[in-house]
Amino acid sequence: MHSGPASRGAALVLERLYRHLPAMEQHLHIAERTGWPDEIPTLSAGYPREVWDAHPHLRKPTRNWMAAHAGFRRLADVLRDDAEQFLDAKIAADFYGARLARLARMLTVNLHGHHTFEDRSFFPEINAVDPRFGSGLEVLEADHMELDQTLDRFERHARRSLQLAELDPGQLKDEVGALHKVTEGLQGFLARHLADEEDLIVPIILHHRMRG
Ligand SMILES: [Fe+2]
Ligand SMILES: [Fe+2]
Repeated sequence: MHSGPASRGAALVLERLYRHLPAMEQHLHIAERTGWPDEIPTLSAGYPREVWDAHPHLRKPTRNWMAAHAGFRRLADVLRDDAEQFLDAKIAADFYGARLARLARMLTVNLHGHHTFEDRSFFPEINAVDPRFGSGLEVLEADHMELDQTLDRFERHARRSLQLAELDPGQLKDEVGALHKVTEGLQGFLARHLADEEDLIVPIILHHRMRG
């Protein structure tokens, strides 16, 4: 599983960044945001979500990218439901552990891969086509740094849960309780980040006939 110095470094960068931001910027943080505020330019008024699906410029690569988002949301739902099933004694520790090992790895590996692709390749591509939306892309990049920290917490609790499932199942409930809480936090993060990301980027893609 992913861990470690890189994301701790990112956490420090983020902490420094937000300590020095003017008060105006604090509300752009993922924990504060409730959608895109007026000072962040988007094309969403001209391309509201309702028109996306039938739009001729919504091609396969963009549909696949949004399907990946839907997959992350679903996977986080399943991980939270599994934790609840175990805490309610509806499934056994070994069954829960086997699913957790597989699904937690799937979520973390794919999420890290997804946002690394966005930071290194997809966002620069968008910015090169239309540089008016750089401020929104920067906010999404800051989200990704925060996501690294959330995923680190999730992985720590998942790893401890897997160890306890094997070595000391009597202690497992407390740890799964903590994992459940972190998973709910991750769900909230994903709901906000993925919605804002799509609201910023899909209209740009439709407008410029990008990606297919
Ligand atoms: Fe993202
Ligand atoms: Fe994404």
